[in-house]
Amino acid sequence: MLKKVYMFGGKGGVGKSTLACALALWLSEKGKTLLASLDPAHSLSGILKTSVGSSITQVLPNLYAVELDAQSLARSYVDRVLKGLEEILSPSVLEGAKRFASLISSSPTSLETAVFDKLSELLPQYEYVVLDFAPTGQVLRFFDSLNLVQEWLEFLVQLSHRQEEIDRFMNRKRNLPQLLKERLQKVKFLAETLREKGLLFAVARQEPLALQEAQMLEKNTFIKTKRVINCSEEPTEGLSIPRVEDPYGIENLKKIPIEKLALL
Ligand SMILES: Nc1ncnc2c1ncn2[C@@H]1O[C@H](COP(=O)(O)OP(=O)(O)O)[C@@H](O)[C@H]1O
Ligand SMILES: [Mg+2]
Repeated sequence: MLKKVYMFGGKGGVGKSTLACALALWLSEKGKTLLASLDPAHSLSGILKTSVGSSITQVLPNLYAVELDAQSLARSYVDRVLKGLEEILSPSVLEGAKRFASLISSSPTSLETAVFDKLSELLPQYEYVVLDFAPTGQVLRFFDSLNLVQEWLEFLVQLSHRQEEIDRFMNRKRNLPQLLKERLQKVKFLAETLREKGLLFAVARQEPLALQEAQMLEKNTFIKTKRVINCSEEPTEGLSIPRVEDPYGIENLKKIPIEKLALL
């Protein structure tokens, strides 16, 4: 039963991935935990000093990790959607749709939709999920797309209702409306779960540009957000994490005092 989803956003190089790894290690002592990287420039393997790939790897008895490959998720997502279209499109139109699909499968929204699909499948299988994002821009787009894709699917489902009525009249049966409804349910489930159980850490260092990006995250997402100052030299008002020596490998990562993040 999923209890909490922790997300890490912020400027490049502030320590998102390092803190995500440290938190996931800590959480895994409490329950089954998934650490997933959404940054195309994956770094979990290097930080954990354990090989993590695009399929889920068990790192410790209760810790699983994955570096999601949006490109290949998008390709297989588009293939599944095309399968649903096979029954309603004529072969020549389908050929065109396939060519079009290969183009759109690398568009940012398709990449994100495929990631949403995967996350909605993974989240219910863990007690704790830690998501390590790419720098700020990706986080903002992730949440924008989550809203956008939901609206778009709602529109398509409405359209398909009308199609369904015609089909019923003509005594035809098709899978597409069902497929669209399933997609919509998944995206809605993900948005609701992140709203109810999500906490986004806006990680920054004590320097103006990093703080500015953290503020952007606090203002522009629909998720509960907490600022974390990493490598802080003096105690700050909010959450802060001190600099530690050589934060690589499981044993060293455990030395990062991360529990105050997990207790939120
Ligand atoms: N608390 C910390 N103490 C010492 N070094 C840190 C700490 N957090 C991060 N670092 C170092 O900062 C650099 C960037 O960290 P990383 O986690 O890759 O950042 P991001 O994921 O935000 O790009 C790495 O060299 C990492 O070892
Ligand atoms: Mg990173």
